[in-house]
Amino acid sequence: MKFWIAGLTAGGFLAAWGWSPRDEAEVFVCGLAEGSLGPCGCTKPMSGGIRRLASVVRREGGARPLVLYSGDMVTGTGRQDLYKAQALAEALGSLESAVVQIGAAELSFGQGAVDSIADLSGRQLVESAAVAGSTQAREERPPFLVAAAEGVRVPDQARSAVESAKAASLAPIVLLLGDRAAASALARQFPELALIVFSQSGTAETLREGPVLIVSPGSKLKSVVRLRWTGDRFETPAVIDLGPEWPDDPAVARIFARYLRRVAGAGLIDQIPRVPSGAFAGSTTCGACHGAATAKWKRSAHARALATLEHEHEAADPDCVRCHTTGLGLSGGFYSRARTPALAAVGCESCHGPARDHARSPHRARLPKVGLQACQNCHTLEQSPGFDAAMHWQVIRHR
Ligand code: HEC
Ligand code: HEC
Ligand code: HEC
Ligand code: HEC
Repeated sequence: MKFWIAGLTAGGFLAAWGWSPRDEAEVFVCGLAEGSLGPCGCTKPMSGGIRRLASVVRREGGARPLVLYSGDMVTGTGRQDLYKAQALAEALGSLESAVVQIGAAELSFGQGAVDSIADLSGRQLVESAAVAGSTQAREERPPFLVAAAEGVRVPDQARSAVESAKAASLAPIVLLLGDRAAASALARQFPELALIVFSQSGTAETLREGPVLIVSPGSKLKSVVRLRWTGDRFETPAVIDLGPEWPDDPAVARIFARYLRRVAGAGLIDQIPRVPSGAFAGSTTCGACHGAATAKWKRSAHARALATLEHEHEAADPDCVRCHTTGLGLSGGFYSRARTPALAAVGCESCHGPARDHARSPHRARLPKVGLQACQNCHTLEQSPGFDAAMHWQVIRHR
């Protein structure tokens, strides 16, 4: 495993910005995007995303904030994952003062892609020599020295960071690819560290182990942790939720829009693997015999689900479309509004299954019973946190 730390070189940074080691500083810890670049749209209030993250840093960071990004940018290795990692890297690069530590997922894209991620996240790149067996995965950002650490070499990397920081009278920060237990253990071993950032799925965490502040930004870019350095210590950190009170940062909104256009341009929906399925009839067909159910459905949010995505310019994003249409991923299911207009919503057959045969001869081709567990395919904890099948059924009930 190797690390990339991207950003300006220390010398240029010092000269350009004139730091002195005892300066106060604003630090923002973010990370572990795990493929979530935008607010998922589905939670209320919607939270998270790179556009709001950038807005917080630019509005609250003062003249020279330090942004620390740590952990997996994405969770897969497909084309869309690469686009995401590149867009995230570019967004972090636009913040100018980011130190970026990527996770294992990005490394599996291969060297060329990793180079592009590194370039996008900063104008200069310090390649970790971790591969070559030394401990140079670090960046000087006065008043801090930021070092990456992972795996069996963590103690060596941390010790080396502490020693170099001391020599340069900087405060040592370690970005650790590890969990809370590993971070606490490291803090006990190296009480000289000012800050350890670890990346662990879940919500943001802040704790102290003796003098060492330990922070995890949580996952999916739902929040950012803000730290104030007084010159010799960190004040109590604040977790800032990236809720709708934060506007979209215009520069990063352009990066995000470009990402969506890349996703659309690549025709990723057309490339989704399809499982063979029965034929679909489309919701309009059912109305002839199930008038009341159809009238009820037409008034429901389900009938507008794809329109919602179109409004958000996300209608070509496989990440979203699967829950906002009927039968994506099935051979008989949704392809596009143009090709399969009757499936361009969460239609009857999202829950009842492919029903063309039933629509043609209802008594011979009976449909299987569906229960409220059908809801859980889309109303997941992530996308619909307040969902209660029995209660919400009363809203869309149609029999
Ligand atoms: C030509 C008329 C007709 C059309 C079109 C039609 N149905 Fe039906 N449907 C019926 C009849 C009649 C029954 C009752 C069947 C029975 O009890 O044998 C039924 C039963 C059902 C049931 C209950 C199944 C059960 O076994 O209890 C569901 C669910 C259903 N239809 C859904 C749909 C959906 C979804 C569509 C559109 C894709 C659709 N139907 C289209 C006539 C139709
Ligand atoms: C796992 C299924 C799933 C995925 C994936 C998904 N959604 Fe949703 N979405 C839902 C559900 C379910 C709701 C309704 C949530 C509720 O009200 O509890 C919803 C609601 C929404 C809403 C709010 C509609 C409104 O006006 O109330 C928006 C906007 C939205 N989604 C956009 C997106 C975008 C953009 C993506 C992709 C980045 C996405 N969704 C991916 C299931 C999903
Ligand atoms: C969001 C999922 C969902 C959608 C969309 C949906 N249904 Fe249903 N439908 C259900 C569930 C679940 C039941 C069984 C409810 C229960 O357990 O009481 C049901 C029941 C029915 C029944 C009565 C079957 C019975 O059990 O007696 C009919 C008929 C029916 N739906 C037709 C339709 C038609 C027609 C549409 C589209 C216009 C539609 N449904 C859309 C989930 C859905
Ligand atoms: C194929 C995915 C899918 C399935 C299955 C599904 N839903 Fe939904 N549901 C959605 C999406 C997407 C939305 C948001 C649509 C929008 O606003 O654009 C939604 C919205 C809703 C809403 C409106 C929420 C609000 O606050 O306005 C209710 C209620 C709801 N669903 C109930 C159910 C129930 C009950 C079931 C199971 C019987 C179910 N849904 C199954 C995708 C699904």
